[in-house]
Amino acid sequence: MSEANKGQKDFWSGKGGDLWVQRQNVMDIMLKPLGEAALQKLELSEDANVLDIGCGCGNTTLSIAGKIKPRGRVTGLDISEPMLQRATESALELSLDNISFQCVDVQTEDIGSDTFSAAFSRFGVMFFEDSVAAFRNINKSLLPGSPLSFVCWQSPIQNPWQSLFVQEVKKFIDLPAPPPRSPGPFAFMESNYVNSILENSNFESIEIEGHEAEVNMFSGRSLADSVKDYMAINPVVSEMLKDSSNEVKQEIIKSTMEVFSPYYSDKGLIFPGAAWLVTAKKEANA
Ligand SMILES: C[S@@+](CC[C@H](N)C(=O)[O-])C[C@H]1O[C@@H](n2cnc3c(N)ncnc32)[C@H](O)[C@@H]1O
Repeated sequence: MSEANKGQKDFWSGKGGDLWVQRQNVMDIMLKPLGEAALQKLELSEDANVLDIGCGCGNTTLSIAGKIKPRGRVTGLDISEPMLQRATESALELSLDNISFQCVDVQTEDIGSDTFSAAFSRFGVMFFEDSVAAFRNINKSLLPGSPLSFVCWQSPIQNPWQSLFVQEVKKFIDLPAPPPRSPGPFAFMESNYVNSILENSNFESIEIEGHEAEVNMFSGRSLADSVKDYMAINPVVSEMLKDSSNEVKQEIIKSTMEVFSPYYSDKGLIFPGAAWLVTAKKEANA
Protein backbone atom coordinates (compact mmCIF):
# COMPACT_ATOMS: atom_id res chain seq x y z
CA MET A 1 0.00 0.00 0.00
CA SER A 2 1.39 3.44 -0.85
CA GLU A 3 2.21 5.85 1.95
CA ALA A 4 -0.66 8.24 2.72
CA ASN A 5 -0.19 11.86 1.62
CA LYS A 6 3.17 11.03 0.02
CA GLY A 7 2.86 13.67 -2.74
CA GLN A 8 2.12 16.36 -0.14
CA LYS A 9 4.98 15.24 2.10
CA ASP A 10 7.39 15.34 -0.85
CA PHE A 11 6.24 18.85 -1.74
CA TRP A 12 6.09 20.40 1.74
CA SER A 13 9.29 18.77 3.00
CA GLY A 14 11.03 19.34 -0.34
CA LYS A 15 11.44 22.33 -2.65
CA GLY A 16 7.93 23.67 -1.92
CA GLY A 17 8.57 23.82 1.84
CA ASP A 18 11.99 25.40 1.29
CA LEU A 19 10.40 28.14 -0.81
CA TRP A 20 7.70 28.73 1.82
CA VAL A 21 10.52 29.26 4.36
CA GLN A 22 12.37 31.66 2.02
CA ARG A 23 9.20 33.62 1.28
CA GLN A 24 7.72 33.38 4.77
CA ASN A 25 7.33 37.15 5.16
CA VAL A 26 5.41 37.67 1.94
CA MET A 27 3.24 34.60 2.53
CA ASP A 28 2.41 35.90 6.02
CA ILE A 29 1.48 39.32 4.55
CA MET A 30 -0.86 37.50 2.13
CA LEU A 31 -2.49 35.13 4.62
CA LYS A 32 -2.42 37.06 7.91
CA PRO A 33 -5.66 39.08 7.55
CA LEU A 34 -7.58 35.91 6.60
CA GLY A 35 -6.04 33.91 9.45
CA GLU A 36 -6.94 36.67 11.91
CA ALA A 37 -10.55 36.64 10.76
CA ALA A 38 -10.66 32.89 11.56
CA LEU A 39 -8.82 33.32 14.86
CA GLN A 40 -11.31 35.96 15.99
CA LYS A 41 -14.00 33.27 15.85
CA LEU A 42 -12.24 31.36 18.66
CA GLU A 43 -12.71 32.67 22.17
CA LEU A 44 -9.52 31.49 23.79
CA SER A 45 -9.40 31.37 27.58
CA GLU A 46 -6.13 32.23 29.30
CA ASP A 47 -5.53 28.55 30.11
CA ALA A 48 -6.51 27.24 26.65
CA ASN A 49 -4.66 24.30 25.11
CA VAL A 50 -4.77 25.02 21.36
CA LEU A 51 -3.99 22.87 18.33
CA ASP A 52 -2.73 24.65 15.18
CA ILE A 53 -3.24 22.26 12.23
CA GLY A 54 -0.80 22.47 9.31
CA CYS A 55 0.97 25.33 11.11
CA GLY A 56 3.77 25.66 8.53
CA CYS A 57 6.36 28.29 9.54
CA GLY A 58 4.32 28.96 12.68
CA ASN A 59 3.14 32.56 12.29
CA THR A 60 -0.31 31.75 13.67
CA THR A 61 1.05 29.38 16.34
CA LEU A 62 3.33 32.14 17.65
CA SER A 63 0.52 34.64 17.59
CA ILE A 64 -1.76 32.30 19.59
CA ALA A 65 1.07 31.57 22.07
CA GLY A 66 1.56 35.31 22.60
CA LYS A 67 -2.17 35.86 23.22
CA ILE A 68 -2.58 33.12 25.86
CA LYS A 69 0.79 33.12 27.62
CA PRO A 70 1.81 32.34 30.31
CA ARG A 71 -0.93 29.83 31.26
CA GLY A 72 -2.24 28.79 27.85
CA ARG A 73 -0.37 26.42 25.54
CA VAL A 74 -0.32 25.84 21.80
CA THR A 75 0.90 22.92 19.69
CA GLY A 76 1.66 23.33 15.99
CA LEU A 77 1.50 20.18 13.85
CA ASP A 78 2.78 19.87 10.31
CA ILE A 79 4.41 17.43 7.87
CA SER A 80 7.05 19.91 6.65
CA GLU A 81 10.42 19.60 8.35
CA PRO A 82 11.91 22.85 6.96
CA MET A 83 8.83 24.88 7.86
CA LEU A 84 8.73 23.42 11.39
CA GLN A 85 12.41 24.17 11.83
CA ARG A 86 11.72 27.82 10.97
CA ALA A 87 8.76 27.80 13.37
CA THR A 88 10.91 26.41 16.20
CA GLU A 89 13.65 29.01 15.58
CA SER A 90 11.06 31.82 15.67
CA ALA A 91 9.64 30.57 19.00
CA LEU A 92 13.15 30.56 20.48
CA GLU A 93 13.85 34.07 19.14
CA LEU A 94 10.66 35.30 20.82
CA SER A 95 11.42 33.32 24.04
CA LEU A 96 7.98 31.73 23.88
CA ASP A 97 8.02 28.61 26.03
CA ASN A 98 4.28 27.81 25.93
CA ILE A 99 4.57 26.44 22.40
CA SER A 100 5.65 23.18 20.82
CA PHE A 101 5.91 21.92 17.26
CA GLN A 102 5.71 18.34 16.05
CA CYS A 103 6.26 16.78 12.65
CA VAL A 104 3.17 14.57 12.27
CA ASP A 105 0.60 13.72 9.65
CA VAL A 106 -2.68 14.96 11.13
CA GLN A 107 -4.62 12.44 9.01
CA THR A 108 -2.78 9.27 9.96
CA GLU A 109 -0.88 9.74 13.22
CA ASP A 110 -1.99 9.80 16.84
CA ILE A 111 -2.49 13.44 17.87
CA GLY A 112 -4.06 12.70 21.25
CA SER A 113 -7.50 12.10 22.76
CA ASP A 114 -9.55 14.66 24.72
CA THR A 115 -6.46 16.86 24.85
CA PHE A 116 -7.00 20.25 23.19
CA SER A 117 -9.55 22.89 24.18
CA ALA A 118 -9.60 24.48 20.70
CA ALA A 119 -8.35 23.73 17.18
CA PHE A 120 -7.38 26.25 14.53
CA SER A 121 -5.96 26.30 11.02
CA ARG A 122 -4.95 28.94 8.50
CA PHE A 123 -5.14 27.16 5.12
CA GLY A 124 -3.61 23.95 6.55
CA VAL A 125 -6.55 21.52 6.22
CA MET A 126 -7.11 21.14 2.45
CA PHE A 127 -4.25 18.76 1.71
CA PHE A 128 -5.45 15.43 3.16
CA GLU A 129 -6.04 12.42 0.91
CA ASP A 130 -8.77 11.36 3.35
CA SER A 131 -10.29 14.47 4.89
CA VAL A 132 -12.87 12.59 6.97
CA ALA A 133 -10.11 10.49 8.58
CA ALA A 134 -8.14 13.68 9.31
CA PHE A 135 -11.11 15.53 10.83
CA ARG A 136 -12.10 12.48 12.89
CA ASN A 137 -8.57 12.50 14.26
CA ILE A 138 -8.85 16.24 15.01
CA ASN A 139 -12.24 15.66 16.62
CA LYS A 140 -10.81 12.88 18.81
CA SER A 141 -7.96 15.13 19.94
CA LEU A 142 -10.41 17.77 21.24
CA LEU A 143 -12.10 17.89 24.63
CA PRO A 144 -15.91 17.46 24.39
CA GLY A 145 -17.66 20.70 23.37
CA SER A 146 -14.43 22.34 22.14
CA PRO A 147 -14.44 24.69 19.13
CA LEU A 148 -12.74 24.37 15.75
CA SER A 149 -12.11 27.35 13.46
CA PHE A 150 -10.33 27.38 10.13
CA VAL A 151 -10.04 29.38 6.93
CA CYS A 152 -9.84 27.82 3.45
CA TRP A 153 -10.18 29.15 -0.10
CA GLN A 154 -13.40 29.48 -2.08
CA SER A 155 -13.26 28.58 -5.80
CA PRO A 156 -10.59 29.76 -8.27
CA ILE A 157 -13.26 31.84 -10.05
CA GLN A 158 -13.48 33.97 -6.90
CA ASN A 159 -9.68 33.94 -6.57
CA PRO A 160 -8.46 35.21 -9.96
CA TRP A 161 -4.78 34.75 -9.06
CA GLN A 162 -5.49 31.04 -9.63
CA SER A 163 -8.13 31.13 -12.41
CA LEU A 164 -6.17 33.63 -14.56
CA PHE A 165 -3.01 31.60 -14.11
CA VAL A 166 -4.68 28.31 -15.10
CA GLN A 167 -6.24 30.03 -18.13
CA GLU A 168 -2.72 31.05 -19.27
CA VAL A 169 -1.20 27.61 -18.59
CA LYS A 170 -3.91 25.99 -20.71
CA LYS A 171 -2.72 28.01 -23.72
CA PHE A 172 0.58 26.13 -23.61
CA ILE A 173 -0.05 22.72 -22.10
CA ASP A 174 -2.84 20.24 -22.28
CA LEU A 175 -3.93 20.07 -18.66
CA PRO A 176 -6.06 17.16 -17.53
CA ALA A 177 -8.50 18.49 -14.93
CA PRO A 178 -7.39 17.26 -11.48
CA PRO A 179 -9.98 15.01 -9.81
CA PRO A 180 -12.47 17.26 -7.98
CA ARG A 181 -11.78 17.70 -4.26
CA SER A 182 -8.26 16.28 -4.60
CA PRO A 183 -5.72 17.63 -2.07
CA GLY A 184 -4.71 21.22 -2.81
CA PRO A 185 -5.54 24.86 -2.01
CA PHE A 186 -9.03 24.59 -3.58
CA ALA A 187 -10.07 21.17 -2.28
CA PHE A 188 -12.59 22.82 0.10
CA MET A 189 -14.09 25.30 -2.35
CA GLU A 190 -17.58 23.70 -2.08
CA SER A 191 -19.10 24.66 1.26
CA ASN A 192 -21.56 21.72 1.22
CA TYR A 193 -18.61 19.33 0.85
CA VAL A 194 -16.84 20.95 3.84
CA ASN A 195 -20.07 20.66 5.80
CA SER A 196 -20.36 16.94 4.97
CA ILE A 197 -16.75 16.27 6.03
CA LEU A 198 -17.38 17.91 9.40
CA GLU A 199 -20.71 16.14 9.92
CA ASN A 200 -19.07 12.81 9.13
CA SER A 201 -16.32 13.60 11.61
CA ASN A 202 -18.78 14.12 14.49
CA PHE A 203 -18.65 17.91 14.61
CA GLU A 204 -21.81 19.91 15.32
CA SER A 205 -22.88 23.60 15.22
CA ILE A 206 -21.17 23.85 11.82
CA GLU A 207 -21.11 27.36 10.34
CA ILE A 208 -19.50 28.30 7.01
CA GLU A 209 -19.33 32.00 6.25
CA GLY A 210 -18.08 33.61 3.03
CA HIS A 211 -15.33 36.15 3.58
CA GLU A 212 -14.10 38.43 0.79
CA ALA A 213 -10.84 40.32 1.09
CA GLU A 214 -8.02 41.73 -0.98
CA VAL A 215 -5.13 39.32 -1.30
CA ASN A 216 -1.68 40.91 -1.40
CA MET A 217 0.73 38.47 -2.99
CA PHE A 218 4.53 38.66 -3.01
CA SER A 219 4.70 42.19 -1.63
CA GLY A 220 7.95 43.92 -2.62
CA ARG A 221 8.85 41.42 -5.39
CA SER A 222 8.99 42.29 -9.10
CA LEU A 223 6.12 41.10 -11.31
CA ALA A 224 8.35 38.49 -12.98
CA ASP A 225 9.63 37.17 -9.64
CA SER A 226 6.08 37.07 -8.26
CA VAL A 227 4.91 34.91 -11.17
CA LYS A 228 7.93 32.59 -10.82
CA ASP A 229 7.36 32.27 -7.06
CA TYR A 230 3.69 31.53 -7.62
CA MET A 231 4.58 28.69 -10.00
CA ALA A 232 6.71 27.04 -7.32
CA ILE A 233 4.91 27.82 -4.06
CA ASN A 234 1.51 26.31 -4.88
CA PRO A 235 1.60 22.47 -4.83
CA VAL A 236 -1.08 22.07 -7.51
CA VAL A 237 0.58 24.55 -9.85
CA SER A 238 3.99 23.01 -9.30
CA GLU A 239 2.53 19.58 -10.14
CA MET A 240 0.90 20.96 -13.33
CA LEU A 241 4.25 22.22 -14.59
CA LYS A 242 6.54 19.43 -13.47
CA ASP A 243 7.03 17.90 -16.93
CA SER A 244 7.15 21.19 -18.87
CA SER A 245 10.33 22.31 -20.62
CA ASN A 246 12.07 25.54 -19.65
CA GLU A 247 10.91 27.10 -22.93
CA VAL A 248 7.26 26.38 -22.13
CA LYS A 249 7.71 27.67 -18.57
CA GLN A 250 9.19 30.91 -19.96
CA GLU A 251 6.18 31.32 -22.27
CA ILE A 252 3.82 30.76 -19.34
CA ILE A 253 5.69 33.33 -17.24
CA LYS A 254 5.49 35.93 -20.03
CA SER A 255 1.83 35.30 -20.68
CA THR A 256 0.91 35.29 -16.97
CA MET A 257 2.80 38.56 -16.43
CA GLU A 258 0.53 40.15 -19.03
CA VAL A 259 -2.71 39.07 -17.36
CA PHE A 260 -1.39 39.78 -13.84
CA SER A 261 -0.03 43.25 -14.70
CA PRO A 262 -3.33 45.15 -14.11
CA TYR A 263 -3.19 43.82 -10.51
CA TYR A 264 0.45 44.84 -9.95
CA SER A 265 1.64 48.02 -8.21
CA ASP A 266 4.51 49.06 -5.95
CA LYS A 267 2.72 47.13 -3.17
CA GLY A 268 2.99 43.88 -5.14
CA LEU A 269 0.11 41.94 -6.64
CA ILE A 270 -3.29 42.78 -5.17
CA PHE A 271 -6.20 40.57 -6.22
CA PRO A 272 -9.75 40.27 -5.03
CA GLY A 273 -10.08 37.04 -3.05
CA ALA A 274 -12.66 34.93 -1.23
CA ALA A 275 -12.30 32.40 1.56
CA TRP A 276 -14.60 30.39 3.82
CA LEU A 277 -14.49 30.95 7.57
CA VAL A 278 -15.53 27.63 9.05
CA THR A 279 -16.46 26.99 12.67
CA ALA A 280 -17.78 23.89 14.43
CA LYS A 281 -17.74 22.19 17.82
CA LYS A 282 -16.99 18.69 19.03
CA GLU A 283 -20.16 17.20 20.49
CA ALA A 284 -20.50 18.07 24.16
CA ASN A 285 -21.40 14.51 25.12
CA ALA A 286 -18.85 12.75 22.95
C1 LIG B 1 -0.85 26.50 2.65
S1 LIG B 1 0.26 25.91 3.89
C2 LIG B 1 -0.27 26.86 5.27
C3 LIG B 1 0.78 26.95 6.35
C4 LIG B 1 0.43 27.85 7.53
N1 LIG B 1 -0.78 27.41 8.21
C5 LIG B 1 0.30 29.28 7.09
O1 LIG B 1 -0.81 29.81 7.11
O2 LIG B 1 1.33 29.90 6.75
C6 LIG B 1 -0.41 24.28 4.24
C7 LIG B 1 0.31 23.55 5.35
O3 LIG B 1 -0.37 22.32 5.62
C8 LIG B 1 0.62 21.34 5.91
N2 LIG B 1 0.07 19.99 5.72
C9 LIG B 1 -0.33 19.42 4.56
N3 LIG B 1 -0.76 18.16 4.77
C10 LIG B 1 -0.64 17.92 6.10
C11 LIG B 1 -0.90 16.78 6.93
N4 LIG B 1 -1.36 15.64 6.42
N5 LIG B 1 -0.65 16.88 8.27
C12 LIG B 1 -0.15 18.04 8.78
N6 LIG B 1 0.12 19.14 8.04
C13 LIG B 1 -0.12 19.09 6.72
C14 LIG B 1 1.74 21.68 4.94
O4 LIG B 1 2.97 21.08 5.26
C15 LIG B 1 1.76 23.20 5.00
O5 LIG B 1 2.62 23.69 5.98
